[in-house]
Amino acid sequence: MTHATPRTIQVVAHRGASEDAPEHTLAAYRRAIEDGADALECDVRLTADGHLVLVHDRRVNRTSNGRGAVSALELADLAALDFGSWKDRDRDEAPDWDTDPERLSERTSVLTLERLLELVADAGRPVELAIETKHPTRWAGQVEERLLFLLKRFGLDAPPAEGPHPVRVMSFSARSLHRVRAAAPTVPVVYLMQFISPRMRDGRLPAGVRIAGPGMRIVRNHPAFIRKLQAAGHSVHVWTVNEPEDVQLCADLGVEAIITNRPRQVLSQLGR
Ligand code: G3P
Ligand code: CA
Repeated sequence: MTHATPRTIQVVAHRGASEDAPEHTLAAYRRAIEDGADALECDVRLTADGHLVLVHDRRVNRTSNGRGAVSALELADLAALDFGSWKDRDRDEAPDWDTDPERLSERTSVLTLERLLELVADAGRPVELAIETKHPTRWAGQVEERLLFLLKRFGLDAPPAEGPHPVRVMSFSARSLHRVRAAAPTVPVVYLMQFISPRMRDGRLPAGVRIAGPGMRIVRNHPAFIRKLQAAGHSVHVWTVNEPEDVQLCADLGVEAIITNRPRQVLSQLGR
């Protein structure tokens, strides 16, 4: 049964508009902003010399022409790699940005969190950020420390004068979220879930967490669990929602945010 969408669902571009452009590149985030995404999602990892860069996997092998763990490489090592060409591997025609050095660089350069924060600050309209800490337990708080340092520098560690907080921190690690809350209690945090752990079965999240981030598989297979989260007063942000029937299910359930590789298509399906 199809219900009317009760209110605006936030559309979050997962790793940027990552279906159209290489994930986590400036090109993907610019495209998401042009497409009208309400928010941008990114994964942050710490380099060997302490910078936060946007790379999903532990290693750079899948998304660049290099090899090795992000944590073993310095920012200068990553800056020398090509993070975009893997996306063009299966294309028949030569991409037109080949001839435009600036566009090429935006598609191929590693992106720091700092640069993404600058992009959002200059977006010309409100764009929120959903930042996921990757493998934070290994680094004994360094990921969160650097993240909060940057948020503070951009004036994003405290609540805005009006409207919702423009940044939230997401993690599969309750410990990481706890660290963020301890240092910046007003920054919203999202507890990501790949499966329903026995402790969460009644719809309760770790202490202090108000937003649940279930994977689409949970939503599809256990909609009753989503209703339990909602009954417990939690907002629900679902990842990664790319198929029209999944978008519709999320809308029917009344979730607050849809995280997608296809922001333009999802916005259009939601009538925006
Ligand atoms: O937004 C949450 C989602 O991105 C978590 O999964 O593997 O894409 O980082 P992953
Ligand atoms: Ca992520």
